Amino acid sequence: MNHLLSIEDLDREAIERICDRAASFAEVAGREIKKVPALRGRTVLNLFYESSTRTRSSFELAAKRLSADVVTFAASGSSVEKGESLKDTILTLNAHKPDVIVIRTPWAGSAQLVTGWSPAQVVNAGDGKHEHPTQALLDVHTLRSKLGALDGLDVWIVGDVLHSRVARSNILAFQKMGMRVTVCGPPTLIPRGIEALGCTVRHTLDRLAEADVVYALRMQHERMDQAWIPSLREYAALFQINAARLSPHQILMHPGPVNRGVELSGEVVDSPQAAITAQVEAGVVVRMAVLYEVLAGSRASAAAPSAEGALA
Ligand code: NCD
Repeated sequence: MNHLLSIEDLDREAIERICDRAASFAEVAGREIKKVPALRGRTVLNLFYESSTRTRSSFELAAKRLSADVVTFAASGSSVEKGESLKDTILTLNAHKPDVIVIRTPWAGSAQLVTGWSPAQVVNAGDGKHEHPTQALLDVHTLRSKLGALDGLDVWIVGDVLHSRVARSNILAFQKMGMRVTVCGPPTLIPRGIEALGCTVRHTLDRLAEADVVYALRMQHERMDQAWIPSLREYAALFQINAARLSPHQILMHPGPVNRGVELSGEVVDSPQAAITAQVEAGVVVRMAVLYEVLAGSRASAAAPSAEGALA
């Protein structure tokens, strides 16, 4: 694997390989010294043009646990505020000779563009409404750790699918793992034609009990340029996942940040059914596996050390 831009770049075998490697890195996370030398001497540049808590901190921690040198660069406080373009920013940062550029922006397709401007391997940490592949990988890893094989399981992705890069990546990844995907939300928040991805569309939660996994999405206010729903109160009345709607056998997921009282009630966020903290934990080890894969891994088939070797 060279770059990681989209889940479309990965087949099931690659997803499983990354998750298996993440599981071996989880062993490192349990040690007192949580560091391995796998990427010693490599430079990882985290470039964030959008706010982030989980993704940014976990990429940084992942790179550090692999002994890479890390520079985390937020657009605010940089020359981006003075009007420097993405292309000029990348050309400037190339002078630091990064081996990997991890990039998040509000623009769909930006990670792909960066591959043309830099010799570094590029990892998409969210490009506008398009994709967020490492989120999908950490979600698959979280579910595999809890449930084992995912074939034949039903997942419902509920909420603002229209503005969600997580939805797109997760629909693709869950299906590649053999799951059946239903997307559910008000018609204004479900992209027209999304069935073409192979998922079922519903506009009510009436059959939510069929789901094994309920994956709630955040209402993406920052990407809404018009009124997509009558009010948050009405949205919550129809689509909020709360204790009355969640069945005891279901696993509840959410990529964070959660709007408590909107897409999820506080009660379900804090319930043992919620895998939300497990998702964040998985974020570090899955991103370690992705960084390893795009660097050492791309050469692993020839000469580089195996993941097991890297753990020494
Ligand atoms: C998601 C994102 O930024 O796309 N968050 C994340 O990476 N954990 C989802 C969101 O912001 O709603």
